[in-house]
Amino acid sequence: MKLTVNGNEVEVTSEADTPLLWVLRDELNLVGTKFGCGIAQCGACTVHLDGVAIRSCVTPVAAVANKDIQTIEGQATETGLSPVQQAWLETDVAQCGYCQSGQIMAATALLAQNANPSDPEIDAAMAGNICRCGTYPRIRKAVHLAAALIAEEQSA
Ligand code: FES
Ligand code: FES
Repeated sequence: MKLTVNGNEVEVTSEADTPLLWVLRDELNLVGTKFGCGIAQCGACTVHLDGVAIRSCVTPVAAVANKDIQTIEGQATETGLSPVQQAWLETDVAQCGYCQSGQIMAATALLAQNANPSDPEIDAAMAGNICRCGTYPRIRKAVHLAAALIAEEQSA
């Protein structure tokens, strides 16, 4: 089956019902997307499907053929980190880091829908992304900074 991952067309041979997470990690070696719970409860495996944040641990690969799949590996460009990654770095969000690729993907999808989310809107949008290290206050701060960086980029 053919997939489009981070703008590249790739061919994979996994069974149709294999979760996208394992195709990304085991077949395509894109290991930035993490396994946490495997039952759509933690958000560690968040990727984008046609721009929408989804749980790759419960998404069969057959359901994503011919769709645009974006992972954390596709966020930085030749010109540098994405604004959300930059904000994460400047805010020093990560503690152990395990949940953070999922957090960044969720935040990126949120900011594409809502350019300037309030704290309650951030909390609501990110509620499905669990962080065992409790980095939520820094995540909130980083989302605000990312919103400002994106606005700056757009006005330049
Ligand atoms: S691993 Fe997919 S939501 Fe937890
Ligand atoms: S930074 Fe450790 S789980 Fe979130």
